[in-house]
Amino acid sequence: MLDQLAEIERAALAELAGIGRTGGPDGALAALDDWRVRYTGRKSVFTSIMRSVGSLSPEQRPAAGQAANAAKQRLEEAYERRLEALRAAALQRQLEDDSVDVTLPGRAPNEGRLHPLTLAQRDILRAFASMGFRPVDGPEVEWDYYNFTALNIPRNHPARDMWDTFWITDDMLLRTHTSPMQVRVLERVPPPVRVVIPGRCHRYESVDATHESTFFQIEGLMVDEACTMAELKGTLSEMVRQLFGADRKTRFRCDYFPFVEPGAEMSMDCFVCGGAGCGLCKRTGWIEILGAGMVHPNVFRAVGLDPKRYRGFAFGLGIDRVAMLKYGVDDLRTFYQNDVRFLRQFTHPAVTPECWDRGKPA
Ligand code: DAH
Repeated sequence: MLDQLAEIERAALAELAGIGRTGGPDGALAALDDWRVRYTGRKSVFTSIMRSVGSLSPEQRPAAGQAANAAKQRLEEAYERRLEALRAAALQRQLEDDSVDVTLPGRAPNEGRLHPLTLAQRDILRAFASMGFRPVDGPEVEWDYYNFTALNIPRNHPARDMWDTFWITDDMLLRTHTSPMQVRVLERVPPPVRVVIPGRCHRYESVDATHESTFFQIEGLMVDEACTMAELKGTLSEMVRQLFGADRKTRFRCDYFPFVEPGAEMSMDCFVCGGAGCGLCKRTGWIEILGAGMVHPNVFRAVGLDPKRYRGFAFGLGIDRVAMLKYGVDDLRTFYQNDVRFLRQFTHPAVTPECWDRGKPA
């Protein structure tokens, strides 16, 4: 029986040593458990040997019993050691699999930027703020009355054709310009008034590189008992110099807008060619910037102000156009296509002839 025990112990240890040599970690643990049941469990070979000890002679019994117990204990200890080793190996493997290489370069967080139109709008508002103009907000969905009628453009007036309109009902529309805010402000605020109104406008127009059906304007309005065309020219020229450089020259020419009299169009000398003529200014040396004029008496009448007592000037400029000029963008549509590769290029405005210098012949 002692020989038999030694043989079982040898075979068991050999088998134990082989567990985990092949197969995955889960397989090794399952094989180990199977080994435990067979060699040290309640139905193991030892249990049957212990039972057979009883059939031995009384002299042989103690030695055989002790030997069997000792062998079983050695196997149990070997089992514990093997289990420990397999668990440690499994843990090690898991740690290696899950490990993070802290020396790898990280992924840069996606940093937000201001939209170029926002940047341009802020620059324009800042320039006017330096001259005392307060920004005001107004509705995009507007009444015919404010968008047209109160601005001296009654129904069936041919000047309505200047603005192709998205109508919502017979008398409600998407504002075609920010000018209706002149009326809304004067209805509420007694002069003196100095305000600028940025906002989105809509026109029923076909889209190309310089036209969008949606775009942004900034309206400006100054009203007081004394207000002259010279102040209009000074204010707008100062804005141009703050935005496009101290040496910019401005030019005012007559233009027609129903809500101003006289009406004017303002241009600045081309900052690429300095007025000599190039691709940007279409060889005229001048870049058109905005429409303006002295507030029409009928607009004062519409808001109940006495046109004999009050004077004012108004202007409207396209933010998109200013942004295109400042950044050297030649297709307006890119502002609205939401391609972050395009949009993220704009950090802070820097108007330079170089930004237009993309190999375009002068
Ligand atoms: N609202 C005009 C437009 O969208 C621009 C404009 C011209 C605004 C003259 C004015 C102005 O305030 O005086 O075409």
